[in-house]
This record gives sequence, structure tokens and C-alpha cells, in this order.
Amino acid sequence: MADRRASAPPALRPLYEVPVVATDLYEAIADCPMCNLARTRTQTVPGSGPLPCDLMFIGEGPGQREDELGLPFVGRSGQFLDELLASIGRSRTDVYVTNVVKCRPPGNRDPEPNEMAACRAYLDQQLELAQPKVVATLGRFSMARWFPGERISDIHGRERAVDGVTVIPMYHPAAALRNGSLRAVMMQDFARITALLGEAS
Ligand code: URA
Repeated sequence: MADRRASAPPALRPLYEVPVVATDLYEAIADCPMCNLARTRTQTVPGSGPLPCDLMFIGEGPGQREDELGLPFVGRSGQFLDELLASIGRSRTDVYVTNVVKCRPPGNRDPEPNEMAACRAYLDQQLELAQPKVVATLGRFSMARWFPGERISDIHGRERAVDGVTVIPMYHPAAALRNGSLRAVMMQDFARITALLGEAS
């Protein structure tokens, strides 16, 4: 842990703080041999942010930069996520961020069903530790956990209460980097989070 922190830009260092309640979980993830991604990863990317936490984001899987640094959303998608968070007065140190799979799929391909299944228990435990008021899914893979068979273009930005938690599906930040018109859509969808958390905007 100390070595990856040393090579990270100083601004990211607070994101390496491991919540005390997650120490065992993060150690288990670090040694995880449960699918083929264990053979190609540089390191695991368990998550960042405090636990418990009122607001939790779930992406897809680490990319190259995340695999290098061991932190979620620290590449280009992460920069846009930071902007979106700033637009609702939040920052990376006060939200919990993780992915459906904790290891980088080679070449940034989509995670495969067996890989998501192998990682599912880790995400279950993170949800249990976070006890979030709001879960925002980023992209279709995390969305499918709560809204199987639905299309992100139909349901983004509209929350539902599922199993006692409010889940709001969002486009993946990378989609907005590919299609600039989604930037404003995502900003609008994020504004809904503020209302859901019961804060003044
Ligand atoms: N995309 C994701 O889904 N997760 C990351 O951590 C980075 C990019």
C-alpha cells in the first residue's frame, strides 16, 4: 500500500485511506485469486472513500491508470467524475467509489459475467459497510444489478427504491467523454442526487 501511495500525485493520497471497517475486506481483495483477471492485474482496486458513507458510486472496472495506482476513477473518466461531484458540492474524499470488478479487464474490455460473479460478494460487503442513503450506478454493468434488462437511455437520472436503498442510474462518465452532449445530461442527473440526500442545493 505504501509504495503505490508514494508514486501517486499528492492530491490523490487521501484516497488511499482504508476505512477501519474495511481493512479485512481490502486485504481479501488484494489477494483475490477468484477469476482470470488476477493473472493480468498490476494490483487490485478495491475502492476509495469513507465507510459508512451516505453516497456511493459504482462504476464498471479499473482502467489502465486505476490499475497502476490502485485507486478507482483516477483517469480521464475520474476527472469528469470529480467535476460532476464538485457541481453538487461534494468531493472524492466524502463519497465512496468502487467498481463492479476490482481488477482491470485487459485492454479495457467489458467485464465478463463470470468475473462480475466472482467479485459480487465484495460489492455486497461494500454496500453493507457503506449503508448508503443513495447509490449512483455509473454505466450499464452496475445498473444491471438493480435494473436488469433495462436501457440506460430510458432510465438514467430517475431513482428507485430497491431493497431499502435509493438507486439512481447514471451514464458512465466515459460515455460523456465520447459524446459531449451527455455532459449536460449527467450534470442534470447529478443535481438530482442533492435532492435525494435531502440537502439544499
Ligand atoms: N471506469 C470505471 O468504470 N471505473 C474506474 O475506476 C475507471 C474507469
